[in-house]
Amino acid sequence: MFDKHEILEKNSLLLTVGILITVAIGGIVEIAPLFYLESTIEKVEGVRPYSPLELAGRNVYVREGCYVCHSQQVRPLRDEVERYGHYSLAAESMYDHPFQWGSKRSGPDLARVGGKYSDEWHRQHLINPRNLVPESIMPPYAMLDSTPLNTHQIAADLKTNRVVGVPYTDEMIENAEADLAAQVDPFSANYDAFIARYPGAQVRDFDGNPRVITEMDAIIAYLQVLGTMVDFTTYEPEADYR
Ligand code: HEC
Repeated sequence: MFDKHEILEKNSLLLTVGILITVAIGGIVEIAPLFYLESTIEKVEGVRPYSPLELAGRNVYVREGCYVCHSQQVRPLRDEVERYGHYSLAAESMYDHPFQWGSKRSGPDLARVGGKYSDEWHRQHLINPRNLVPESIMPPYAMLDSTPLNTHQIAADLKTNRVVGVPYTDEMIENAEADLAAQVDPFSANYDAFIARYPGAQVRDFDGNPRVITEMDAIIAYLQVLGTMVDFTTYEPEADYR
């Protein structure tokens, strides 16, 4: 056995071919099953596509480059879990196109920021972070508070997300603009239909100004839903990976 191995070791070409074959076998074993699996993301109860207002907020988040300083991925390490909460599940970003995991944390991770602060806290913080956190280096985004949200393209946004796999229905796309308005108005006639389409969505006037739907409404709605779709008091992983 060892004598035969010597032949390989003394002939670099044979050794190279041998290495290639071994690596190819390993590669096929790892990669081939992925072609037969429908999805590598385990389904988790509670995860739903973003509502139109949340999606609009996400667009503002991406446009403003918040991801340059903020990640959205709690890693399964003790210090992270103790600081931010349950580690992120793949399913929690399955409807994010593109995903916002980020690679830089000049500011804290935002994957579970939903519900951590009040809407007014977010509004004041975005208008000028120094109002609340004197040592903050985060830039101010006061213009979000006075900029009316462009709601006319939201149906097209939903449609585009559907192309890349987000299960928005025809009904959701048809009602996108009405649903967007319904989320900032708890007395809207569309309330029940909206909640049926987006179970668990938070409905209220997010920026404290009911006269106009602003970009501030949208980004706060988005921040407040982050990390809240899965109920971790009842969540149980499909498989135990420990
Ligand atoms: C230049 C880097 C930078 C950018 C860009 C940035 N932030 Fe921040 N952010 C920070 C830092 C640093 C903190 C921590 C200090 C503070 O709370 O202001 C922070 C804190 C936050 C917090 C509070 C998080 C917590 O758990 O306490 C939120 C929410 C937030 N940022 C949202 C945003 C949003 C939304 C945007 C884009 C509109 C944004 N940030 C852009 C640096 C940044």
